[in-house]
Amino acid sequence: MNNNVKKITLAPMEGVADALMRELLTSINDYDLCITEFVRVVQGLVPRHIYHKLSPELRNKGTTSNGTPVRVQLLGQHAMWMAENANRAIELGSQGVDLNFGCPAKTVNKSKGGAVLLKSPDTIYQIVSAVRDAMPPTQIVSAKIRLGFEDTMLFEEVVAAVAAAGANELTVHARTKKDGYRPPAYWQHIGKIEQAHQMTIYANGEIWDIASAQQCMTEANTPYLMLGRGALAMPNLANVIKGSEEKMTWQALSHLLQHYAQLELAGDKSFYFSSRLKQWLRYLKLQYPQAESLFQRIKTLTHKDEILTEISALALHNVQSKNT
Ligand SMILES: Cc1cc2nc3c(=O)[nH]c(=O)nc-3n(C[C@H](O)[C@H](O)[C@H](O)COP(=O)(O)O)c2cc1C
Repeated sequence: MNNNVKKITLAPMEGVADALMRELLTSINDYDLCITEFVRVVQGLVPRHIYHKLSPELRNKGTTSNGTPVRVQLLGQHAMWMAENANRAIELGSQGVDLNFGCPAKTVNKSKGGAVLLKSPDTIYQIVSAVRDAMPPTQIVSAKIRLGFEDTMLFEEVVAAVAAAGANELTVHARTKKDGYRPPAYWQHIGKIEQAHQMTIYANGEIWDIASAQQCMTEANTPYLMLGRGALAMPNLANVIKGSEEKMTWQALSHLLQHYAQLELAGDKSFYFSSRLKQWLRYLKLQYPQAESLFQRIKTLTHKDEILTEISALALHNVQSKNT
């Protein structure tokens, strides 16, 4: 049994955990690290402005406003260009580099990055060791994998390849590519990773509350966790797991939503505000039934002012019901 969490990372989630969401979630949680959405590496150096766009935190020494470290994730199959780009990410301020070997998207797999590489431990070894060799020894190289592509046959081989190539940390999303995002997560496979590998192992997948976090830590035999969708469904989940807070009330959450709306509208992606908010509400309603009724009220609204009015009314209503 290993139920005392040591570190919690916020998972990379393309199109969801963008810089603004990272800023918001780290402002209310004690996360130890955030991983960015992936930077796609084909052949060549990805321009600096793309790194900055994906991770404005790089201009802040690779940290969010409250000082939570942010690590750039790279996705690609070309070892040399992955290494060159890892160096660039570090030069720009990334706190280590994370390598994505778990992404299931088709377009990604056509250009041979992400989960398809789980079929080829050798390629994974080449990429991780090229990146490790190119980077300053003090910088952390981490990899993120699934249990396999179609099945778990090569899992141990992949883990051994990542370790032999010199990675410091490994996160395992405890499902195969074929499993997609369907529950359950098979944490017990993580528990079988040999201690001899000397990497810090992070367990990931289907952690939604304190009970699942504890079950995961027990089965995966690690006190290091990465939170994905659960971190969106319960915005203070990291602190709940760390034992410093109870689950956020709907009242507090309605104020957070208002704050989010203001930040989103002030940012350069305000065009996406309504779809981003609706997307977040889809996760929130897993933990808060009230999010469903808010979603129903705003789902047909497209104009930002109308949506803002609904959210402000909600926050106001909560203040009033608290005072009466
Ligand atoms: C919308 C979405 C986008 C994701 N984008 C990435 C990504 O860019 N890089 C990556 O390594 N994993 C990505 N993932 C996978 C998550 O990091 C995580 O491994 C997965 O969601 C399982 O954890 P969970 O069950 O806690 O959500 C994404 C997942 C979701 C739901």
